[in-house]
Amino acid sequence: LSLSGAFATLLAIRLLFTRLSFQSQPNLVLPGPRPLPLLGNLLQLDLKRLDESLFSLSKTYGPVFTVKFGPKKVVVLAGTKAVKQALINHAEEFGERDINPLFHDFNQGHGIIFANGDSWKEMRRFTLTTLKDFGMGKRLSEEKIIEECHFLIEEFEQHKGEAFDNSKIISYAASNIISGIMFGKRFEYEDKVFQEMIERDHETIYLAGSVAILIYNYFPWLGPYLKTWRNMMRNVDITKQHARNIIAELKETLNPYVCRGFVDVFCTRMTNLEEHEIQKLHYHDENLLNSVINLFGAGTDTTGNTLSWGLLFMAKYPQIQDQVQEELSRVVGVRQVQTEDRKNLPFVNAVIHETQRLANIVPMAILHQTTKDITFQGYFIQKGTAVLPLLTSVLYDETEWETPNTFNPSHFLDEEGNFVKRDAFLPFSAGRRVCLGEGLARVELFLFFTTLLQHFRFTPPPGISEDELDLKPVVGFTLHPTPHRLCAIRRQCQSEGIFPPDTS
Ligand code: HEM
Repeated sequence: LSLSGAFATLLAIRLLFTRLSFQSQPNLVLPGPRPLPLLGNLLQLDLKRLDESLFSLSKTYGPVFTVKFGPKKVVVLAGTKAVKQALINHAEEFGERDINPLFHDFNQGHGIIFANGDSWKEMRRFTLTTLKDFGMGKRLSEEKIIEECHFLIEEFEQHKGEAFDNSKIISYAASNIISGIMFGKRFEYEDKVFQEMIERDHETIYLAGSVAILIYNYFPWLGPYLKTWRNMMRNVDITKQHARNIIAELKETLNPYVCRGFVDVFCTRMTNLEEHEIQKLHYHDENLLNSVINLFGAGTDTTGNTLSWGLLFMAKYPQIQDQVQEELSRVVGVRQVQTEDRKNLPFVNAVIHETQRLANIVPMAILHQTTKDITFQGYFIQKGTAVLPLLTSVLYDETEWETPNTFNPSHFLDEEGNFVKRDAFLPFSAGRRVCLGEGLARVELFLFFTTLLQHFRFTPPPGISEDELDLKPVVGFTLHPTPHRLCAIRRQCQSEGIFPPDTS
């Protein structure tokens, strides 16, 4: 071997090593738009529709990229693969909540949604078990939901086919399911406290998605100067006070042998603990109050909102409504729908799934945070980094859905018309922080939607065409239908046959 040959061989080996070691090195720099000092990327984003803005950035920067909201770095996960890989395959590492100033203002680290660590773990576990016993334990929740359907039908009937805005009354009905599970009672729709709790929550969830609050989160000293923040804090105080009163009443009448719901089980657990165990095991008043507030808020706005979207889609697409009603008449007839009917109602099931997909009500999930340093898809992400699972990019993923921007129940049907599950159906998010109420919400959506469609035909108000029904959402922290009115016209053939259960 000549000297130059040996040199060339050594150089080649060296280059090969360099290349191999370069490939195995994590890429330390996450892609993303160049931030400005202090403001970060705020000026480059459409803050009024942040999810869409981030979705379009993902087309340039790929499935894992970073943006800066003011001084704060947030890693965005976009597309079905990245979101599932992070939240499911690395559930532990991506499974904490980023508690920003607003989330801290809500619950001071207590409760479920905006909590972490052992306290969150215990509250989540306790809630899931209690939901099973008082709600998702199928028959009980099914009976409660069916009973509530009939109160809702009565309300709809009072409008005698004339156009009205159904969103409030639907959210009252949805709220009565979670209220029943927590407090062991439903509220009259006219109950002023009940109405105020729902309306204050609704406004809070809307304002939580506002530009003012986005800015507050990264410059929290601005809080007292922001009207939006002051309004939100007032709402939170009022809702908490109402919840405190309800809890106090339940405590006064507590009978450990007759548990009425979540609050009773929690209080019984508290009374059985020694003083020093209460804090250690997390069964204290702050966790009780904030878990109740969390469940009430999360269990009302989401399900009610999805149902309003569902009815709007039915009015907008009357042929799809025809198919839903045809399948219901053929398979169920005039009797009350039961949860077991779902497997025999593939089209209806597909319509409910498609409603959730297109409505995309929680477009950016709720911010997560990494629990440890992790190399993900070649990028190094530090422990404690905020992570945004962009659910819009999953529910509207062009590589997963044939017509992502259109209401198309065929997304969930095979060629024979059987229902098919889809990987990219992730409205409840996934992994360690997956929606705790998913099971309950699915039963609610199915029973409310089918029972309403058995009884009513939904149409636009007279003089308004289907085309004129607006599908543009009102954007807050969640996406709501734009306020609208629909007619709920009693279906003749059904009215003879369906008898409301005895609700006395
Ligand atoms: C969290 C969606 C109904 C209770 C969430 C999250 C989403 C979601 C996207 C955030 C998950 C994440 O951080 O990655 C929905 C939708 C619903 C619904 C689309 C209805 C259509 C409900 C109901 C309840 C509920 C009925 C009440 C039982 C919660 C709670 C959390 C949560 C407590 C926080 C979980 C945690 O941080 O560990 N939900 N939700 N949700 N949801 Fe739901």
